[in-house]
Amino acid sequence: SKHLITTKDLKKEEIEDIFNLATQFLQPPYEKLLQDKLIITIFFENSTRTRSSFEVAAKNLGAQVVNLDVTRSSTKKGETLFDTAANLDAMGPNAIVVRHKHAGAPALLARHVSCSLINGGDGAHAHPTQALLDLFTLKQHLGNVQGKKIAIVGDIKNSRVANSNIELLTRFGMEVILVAPPHFLPPTSLRTSSSLQEVIDEVDAIMSLRTQTERHKYPIYASLRDYGSDFCITKDLIGDRDILILHPGPVHRNIDISDEVLADPRCKVLEQVRNGVVVRMAILVKLIHG
Ligand code: CP
Repeated sequence: SKHLITTKDLKKEEIEDIFNLATQFLQPPYEKLLQDKLIITIFFENSTRTRSSFEVAAKNLGAQVVNLDVTRSSTKKGETLFDTAANLDAMGPNAIVVRHKHAGAPALLARHVSCSLINGGDGAHAHPTQALLDLFTLKQHLGNVQGKKIAIVGDIKNSRVANSNIELLTRFGMEVILVAPPHFLPPTSLRTSSSLQEVIDEVDAIMSLRTQTERHKYPIYASLRDYGSDFCITKDLIGDRDILILHPGPVHRNIDISDEVLADPRCKVLEQVRNGVVVRMAILVKLIHG
């Protein structure tokens, strides 16, 4: 597929190809593989990492990048999502990256554009490039991830990152344990737990998630500290265990992960961000050049 809407759009061999290319990109200089190509980003939800790292990735390879400032765009005058995408598509980009609060929006847009459409996150549905950079980071440290165990912790029900990782990590043979209070758990056939202590001795990695209050119909916690008192990843919890700590960002400090653990070498949060650039470079090359 020339589009990347969910992780399922990529076969295992294609993902291995992307990771091999991303590994080469860890050593600059880069060939200008996307010279004369144009990438347009359209982010209807806020982003620090995904939008910027697509821009850095594209520019590293010599592409031109246009970031539509949605707050100043004609969507504010009533232009529809489809017309916005169709008009930008008419400018001849090679790829459009879209983030939208509605699950399914990128899949619908993909049918109305002639270029590659990349999902930069849609509602609670999917965030494929995040899951790919997470798996890349896990493989860097664990080697073959087959049979390894990871706990995904937090607001899983509202998390597109969790959704994409569950699909991808289980396909690569990882055992995924969902750790959350009952109201944050989706319907699932995976093993679940409401206690980090219960799983801490068996897991090779923990992926902590932000509580997505913007997606809650009514407030669940009076304060996020109530969630953090049970689910924060602290030094007390991890002790001196050989374990990896991941988080897609943005982190709620001392609620998702303590300051001390964020500064610990076992915490790979900024490594995930660095890997996000090279994995997105490889994804752009793969989608645009085939
Ligand atoms: N991980 C992630 O998607 O971060 P942003 O929302 O800042 O892009």
